[in-house]
Amino acid sequence: MKPIQVGLLGIGTVGSGVFHVLKRNQAEIQRRAGRGIEIAMVADLDVARAQSIVGEGVRVVNDARQVIANPDIDIVVELIGGYGIAKALVMEAIDAGKHVVTANKALLAVHGTEIFAAAQAKGVMVAFEAAVAGGIPIIKALREGLTANQIQWVAGIINGTTNFILSEMREQGLDFDMALKEAQRLGYAEADPTFDIEGVDAAHKATIMSAIAFGIPVQFDKAHVEGITKLEAADIRYAEQLGYRIKLLGITKRAEQGIELRVHPCLVPAKRLIANVEGAMNAVVVQGDAVGTTLYYGKGAGSEPTASAVIADLVDVTRLHTADPLNRVPHLAFQPASMSDLPVLPMSEVVTSYYLRLRVADEAGVLAKVTGLLAEAGISIDAVLQREAEEGSRQTDLIILTHSTREGTMNDAIAHMQGLPTVLAPIVRIRKEELA
Ligand code: HSE
Repeated sequence: MKPIQVGLLGIGTVGSGVFHVLKRNQAEIQRRAGRGIEIAMVADLDVARAQSIVGEGVRVVNDARQVIANPDIDIVVELIGGYGIAKALVMEAIDAGKHVVTANKALLAVHGTEIFAAAQAKGVMVAFEAAVAGGIPIIKALREGLTANQIQWVAGIINGTTNFILSEMREQGLDFDMALKEAQRLGYAEADPTFDIEGVDAAHKATIMSAIAFGIPVQFDKAHVEGITKLEAADIRYAEQLGYRIKLLGITKRAEQGIELRVHPCLVPAKRLIANVEGAMNAVVVQGDAVGTTLYYGKGAGSEPTASAVIADLVDVTRLHTADPLNRVPHLAFQPASMSDLPVLPMSEVVTSYYLRLRVADEAGVLAKVTGLLAEAGISIDAVLQREAEEGSRQTDLIILTHSTREGTMNDAIAHMQGLPTVLAPIVRIRKEELA
């Protein structure tokens, strides 16, 4: 049978990885797919560079629409990124009856509902394994491997840049700014790292996992997004003394009234495997009612790890190309007519536990007043750590770990504690997840 014909839109780091891995492993991939997979056409603004990657045998153009318009192309691989032109091209490819493979988390987290509806109407597949956690097959695991389960929660380190920075802060005792500079020097962080360090990239990925885990539409606008820019080295140190590590987690959880969807720094017990995921690596923990806790670990970015996920999608699409669209795996794991309208909960309704750091006057009755306000709010304390005041200073840090409570309740309690004259600086609050 003639190889299935693939058109690449963009051949940067990931695209060249796709080209090289497909070429290197083509015989084995063909044995798995049942048919050859051939990159027949590439669109890239830098035609000369693209041509030098793929050689003379592959047609390179600078206009993506020529790829979409080519009737010989069966699958369009979108590797441009962003919500702009990438969205128009994906919609046009679907409209032209092409299957789409994309690594574009931002696009799917924001416009996924429209894209999946268009694909369903047209009877084409949109595959996106590479959009979440790069080379880790977490989409496949959530959508197919764990399909027997009621998923209870998913928690992941799904941004390698921030995990690298947090590892540097902990291991080298660096402040955030220094660790970021080091990440940029080593090429782990981009010149403009905003999406990574502000938690936006992780929130895109958490949004996609949330939709697949619970059968709800993708709702990036409802996600709580908090990055790591305000984290201080002191909190990483105190957390460690209390037996915790601080990680930027993407969390989505089934609660009674709805679904939690949040990205923020989080204390995790140091004894959990995920707490020991260091450097730029990614890991996702999924808790299902039947399977229990499962952990997926690997590279979340990079040329060949991401290509590994893109090619897995190409093989899936190749195998199911001729299948009745109604018998394919649904885009978001659940049949489109059986999606849930469970709401994504506002952050004030999220239930979690907390680490609090209060800079207080070192005088009689301060601890009693603070704990009194927590008791009044019905917030139970798990542990308290009070540092000796530094020599010559009449101030000290008071660290409190709480049991679970509603975020809204904690907000009120923090406002009351902040009003105490003996609380001398803004209270630091970091959420804590036991992931048990
Ligand atoms: N910038 C991402 C990260 C990789 O640091 O993990 C692509 O999503």
